[in-house]
Amino acid sequence: MIQLVEVHKGFTVKDKKTRKKKRIEAVRGISLTVKPGEIYGLLGPNGAGKSTTLRMIAGLMHPEQGRIEVCGAGTATEPEKARGAVGYLSTDLNVYNRFTPREFLRIFGEFQGVDPAVAERRGLHLLEKLELSDFVDVKMEGFSSGQRQKVSIARALLHDPRVIVFDEPTTGLDVLTAKTVLDLLSLMRTEGRTVIVSTHVLPMVERICDRVGIIFDGILHGDAPPREILQRWNVPALDEVFFALAAKGGA
Ligand SMILES: Nc1ncnc2c1ncn2[C@@H]1O[C@H](COP(=O)(O)OP(=O)(O)OP(=O)(O)O)[C@@H](O)[C@H]1O
Ligand SMILES: [Mg+2]
Repeated sequence: MIQLVEVHKGFTVKDKKTRKKKRIEAVRGISLTVKPGEIYGLLGPNGAGKSTTLRMIAGLMHPEQGRIEVCGAGTATEPEKARGAVGYLSTDLNVYNRFTPREFLRIFGEFQGVDPAVAERRGLHLLEKLELSDFVDVKMEGFSSGQRQKVSIARALLHDPRVIVFDEPTTGLDVLTAKTVLDLLSLMRTEGRTVIVSTHVLPMVERICDRVGIIFDGILHGDAPPREILQRWNVPALDEVFFALAAKGGA
């Protein structure tokens, strides 16, 4: 279960030329709940606040106002418990080129306190599901971005998290690979895990998400099953909601 209550997060940035500081309100009062066995899709244009929201759920940064609970643990009050429940995939594909996927996952397993034999078994199982078995013992330096993404996904799931927080999991993947990842997310739902993903791929949302939230300028617009969003906005496709929000200046 993921619960956000009136979450705010801003950043102060400095313009190097004018030397002036300015404040960016990245997330402005977002509340949402994702239940076990549900896939929630977070949509929105570039800079809308999706990654900031997901980073806060993963405990990598904290809200300035409001609160977040993951499996009943507050990210501020019980940070370790909350963080331990989350499998987080970020958008930067940081894998260590010197290692093979098997070595990389073993190191990460140790890092997360997973028994080495269990980590190895689970890692190999995940790589098999992601169709990367043939590359388990190949150094990652020559890996394509899709192969790196698969290893990052296996890493995020290695400690068997109850909550899956994936930032743009299918970006840069071909349609076949993307389907493999979506199938894995669907399996996670069947297993009763709680899943939240951000994406720009609208057909993916329509296919696998139970609920959709559209973030525009740090505010959540619409929080409903995809079909209901289309009905509510009286549009044939989700991208039309974006156009309507942009036309209204996000209001
Ligand atoms: N660490 C940071 N320092 C300063 N500003 C930040 C930081 N992180 C995010 N921001 C700003 O907050 C806003 C929201 O960024 P965020 O990365 O959450 O957007 P996003 O919805 O994930 O966009 P995209 O679709 O491009 O990934 C942006 O204006 C961004 O510049
Ligand atoms: Mg982002």
